[in-house]
Amino acid sequence: MLKDLVIRNRSYRGYDPSRKMTKEELESLVDLTRYTASSVNLQPLRYHIAWKEDEVDTIQGMTKWAAALPHLKLPFPGKRPTGFIIICIDTSLAPNPTVFLRDVGIAAQTMLLAAVEQGLGGCMIGNFDKDEIRNKLDLPINAEPNLIVAIGKPDEDITLTHVGADGNTRYYRDETGQKHFVPKRSLNEILI
Ligand SMILES: Cc1cc2nc3c(=O)[nH]c(=O)nc-3n(C[C@H](O)[C@H](O)[C@H](O)COP(=O)(O)O)c2cc1C
Repeated sequence: MLKDLVIRNRSYRGYDPSRKMTKEELESLVDLTRYTASSVNLQPLRYHIAWKEDEVDTIQGMTKWAAALPHLKLPFPGKRPTGFIIICIDTSLAPNPTVFLRDVGIAAQTMLLAAVEQGLGGCMIGNFDKDEIRNKLDLPINAEPNLIVAIGKPDEDITLTHVGADGNTRYYRDETGQKHFVPKRSLNEILI
C-alpha cells in the first residue's frame, strides 16, 4: 500500500482546474506534519497556505517549473495547481536554516503522500526567489520560504522508466509534450 502511494506520488505539472483546493484541505495536510520527525525536535517549520485564486496565481507566477523542459513552459495554460503550501523556516528559532533542510523534505513528502492518498497530487518547487515570495505575500521577516508544494488534482500521464546505460537521469516528454517520463536508478545501482 505504501509502495503504491510512493509510486503514484510523482511531480505533477498539470492539474484539473475545476478541482479547487480548500483552506481546510490544505490545513489538514499541514496538520500531519506536526507528527513528523524534527532535528532536536525544534519544529521550526512554518506554513503559508494559498487556495484563493488570485493568490494562487501570484504564487504560480513566482515559481519556475520543469527547468529541464524550458520550451514547454509547464504547467500548460489552464492546467495550473489550485493550491500551494509554502514551507518556511522560522529563523528566529533556527538562525542556521540549513540544519533543518531535512525537516523540510520530510514535511513535504508527508503532505504529498497524504495528498496522493486522497486522489490529489503535487510538485515540490525549490526554484523561486525567497525574498520575492516573502515580500509579495507579506510573510513575517523571520519566516524564510524554503520549499513550495503545489497541490491539486493531477491531470497528467507520467511513466517511470529505468536509467539507461548512458546514465542519463533527465526527465523527458514525448513529441506532443503530454506524456512525461521519469528515469529511476535500479536497486543494484543505489546499494553500496
Ligand atoms: C527539493 C526539490 C525541489 C524541486 N524543485 C522543483 C522546481 O523548482 N520545479 C520543478 O518543476 N520541479 C521541481 N522538483 C521536482 C523534480 O524535478 C522531480 O522530483 C524529478 O524530476 C523526479 O520526478 P518525480 O518527482 O516524479 O520522481 C523538485 C524536487 C525536489 C525534491
